[in-house]
Amino acid sequence: MSAMILDGKAVALQIQAEIAAEVTQFRQATGVVPCLVAVLVGDNPASEVYVRNKQKTCEKVGMTSRLERLPSSARPEELLQLIGRLNADVSVHGILVQLPLPTGWDTNQVLDAVSPAKDVDAFGPENVGLICQGRPRFLPCTPHGVLQLLARYNIEVSGKHAVVVGRSDIVGKPLAMLLMQRTGPVGDKVANATVTVCHSQTKNLAEVTQQADILIVAIGRANAIKKEHVKAGAVVIDVGINRIDTGIVGDVDFESVSSVASAITPVPGGVGPLTIAMLLKNTLTAAMQQNGVSR
Ligand code: GUN
Repeated sequence: MSAMILDGKAVALQIQAEIAAEVTQFRQATGVVPCLVAVLVGDNPASEVYVRNKQKTCEKVGMTSRLERLPSSARPEELLQLIGRLNADVSVHGILVQLPLPTGWDTNQVLDAVSPAKDVDAFGPENVGLICQGRPRFLPCTPHGVLQLLARYNIEVSGKHAVVVGRSDIVGKPLAMLLMQRTGPVGDKVANATVTVCHSQTKNLAEVTQQADILIVAIGRANAIKKEHVKAGAVVIDVGINRIDTGIVGDVDFESVSSVASAITPVPGGVGPLTIAMLLKNTLTAAMQQNGVSR
């Protein structure tokens, strides 16, 4: 079997066009242009690329974006003061602190400082709590991107066994939460899964992943999942972005797994572009909420 490629880039372009139309409508109705501010501490090269891509895409859909930089030698209080100023600035609708912060910084203290109304990553405790209760203010960007991809390829999840490999706060945990909910943000078909979460201490990983109808991998280890981990006909979503000598690869060994899966995301061009599209959606939602406009 040769798997169908799930083209995240094409889906992201479609979603960007939808957002651009909504931004125009919102601007015409209110005179407000949604504004995202990215905060980058230090000079992590991967973070530089991610932030640049987020800003470029913002401009493409008619939003404004600004980058605030601090050196890794800055004191945490300087970052907290900057966040305080952005929280109070009515021209700023979304705030994104790019992670990871330099070694030794207290990530939770920083995320706690972002106003929940402007927390477009949905990383702060209030927004995480709302997601868990099934009444999100903002949807987490990468998990929402995965749901959009499944929905737009008509891949039903309801009643299926979804196995999530990875338990990060950014992807694995919130994605498991969304997949198991009764009513999903993109409809009931992409919800109601039976969800298993695997992690570094899972025994006999392949035995568990082989049970997956939908296998989603977010562990940050290049080419870790092989065809031995995958049931014939499974749908495989690869969230990994790993830089190795030969270029960028995912957490899934694409060549090996595409011989057994029914559908698979490529890396690059799979989930990555969707994460950015969903961040822009959240920024537009934030601008609407802050200006009394409902979606
Ligand atoms: N680092 C890796 N992924 C993300 C993300 O989605 N948002 C932020 N702010 N930092 C990240």
